[in-house]
Amino acid sequence: MRRRLTSWCIPLLLGAASMAWGQALQPLPPIEAPKAEQVELGKYLFFEPRLSGDGGVSCDTCHDPATGWGDGKALSTGYPGSEYFRNAQTLLNAAYYKRNYWDGRMAGSDLPTLVRDHLTEAHFMQVDGRLLAERLKQVPEYVELFQKAFSGEPTFGRTLTAVAAFLKTITSRNAPIDRYLRGDRSALSAEAKEGLALFQGKAGCAQCHNGALLSDQKFHALGVPENPDIFADPFRHITFRRFFRTLGAPNAENYREEPGLYGVTKEKADWGKFRTPSLREVSRTAPYMHNGSLATLEDVVAFYDRGGGQHRNKSPLLKPLGLTAGEKQALVEFLKSLAGDPVIVERPELPDYKPQKLGQN
Ligand code: HEC
Ligand code: HEC
Repeated sequence: MRRRLTSWCIPLLLGAASMAWGQALQPLPPIEAPKAEQVELGKYLFFEPRLSGDGGVSCDTCHDPATGWGDGKALSTGYPGSEYFRNAQTLLNAAYYKRNYWDGRMAGSDLPTLVRDHLTEAHFMQVDGRLLAERLKQVPEYVELFQKAFSGEPTFGRTLTAVAAFLKTITSRNAPIDRYLRGDRSALSAEAKEGLALFQGKAGCAQCHNGALLSDQKFHALGVPENPDIFADPFRHITFRRFFRTLGAPNAENYREEPGLYGVTKEKADWGKFRTPSLREVSRTAPYMHNGSLATLEDVVAFYDRGGGQHRNKSPLLKPLGLTAGEKQALVEFLKSLAGDPVIVERPELPDYKPQKLGQN
């Protein structure tokens, strides 16, 4: 009888606890392991400029392992001849999100479609899928790698699957915060522990940055200052206008602010909202925010301490915090404890073309 009672009670108690701890942080769960042969092929393709229209741009042009899998710039470069108007996101843990991109316009459950968006969009890699497959068929090593991964020849669809498989391997490893959450109390310094208490308490960060990613995966307006380069640089402004026109957002010619989620939903209440990013590995991915307008973690903490910026849709969760200099420092120390061992993948030596005679492939 006693046994029975406990087996009933434990799940109930755990349920209640997880409700009270709705803002709790959690260790990163393992991700469903992709097929090793697809990952191996995906690694080559990630560094492969043949995947872009002009043969000059590869994923690592904008997502370089050496700069935290972003490009280290405030605003991303686009396809040659254009410039993009948002910050290149880190790929670390990107495969965990429910929605991808700053405005969440891609579904995280469908990474191959995200890869297709990147390959075909005029502002990213601008390649034609048929041309891409023909190029890869002219490289015997790729024919072999596709055979191993898919038991078939290079195709556009298989390329998307292989790159998506590789993306699933770019995840945090051995982060102090995970060791701490699993019970190793010595994994965080005293200062980082003070920062964690502020993060979940006085500073209110965990209202939005929670769960295993330290993201609620929702969209909020913080009033991040606009990056004037978007409007001052004609190449960026053209990309910006074309982008919102293509999404069907009304009046896109006249925008003087970044609409964010509004561009996707066309709901006025979504103007200026962006997806809460994960804070894992954040010390590696400066500069910060959708437009790179905050250079350092100290700048970010100072921004929140002021209660965020000005915005008509600003989240009511942001208020001036009144943090002391020591508390701001402790928060920064805590943010640094969210980075694990560096995830570095060396660029493999890319195989050469060996054009086949017509009709022989
Ligand atoms: C020209 C620069 C550029 C290239 C090349 C590029 N990306 Fe990106 N990537 C970006 C930018 C900018 C964003 C954010 C887009 C936005 O929010 O509008 C992004 C976002 C992403 C995201 C979403 C991350 C998140 O947190 O949701 C993934 C995944 C990604 N890229 C993977 C890739 C892959 C795979 C390739 C190669 C096929 C690639 N990227 C090539 C610039 C680039
Ligand atoms: C109302 C929800 C909310 C609260 C509260 C909040 N954040 Fe954020 N955080 C966001 C959103 C949304 C973004 C992205 C905003 C953008 O790009 O315009 C963001 C971005 C960031 C970034 C930049 C990450 C990157 O990759 O560029 C850092 C660092 C950060 N927050 C830390 C904190 C800290 C520290 C606190 C507490 C002092 C905090 N946040 C409180 C929602 C929130």
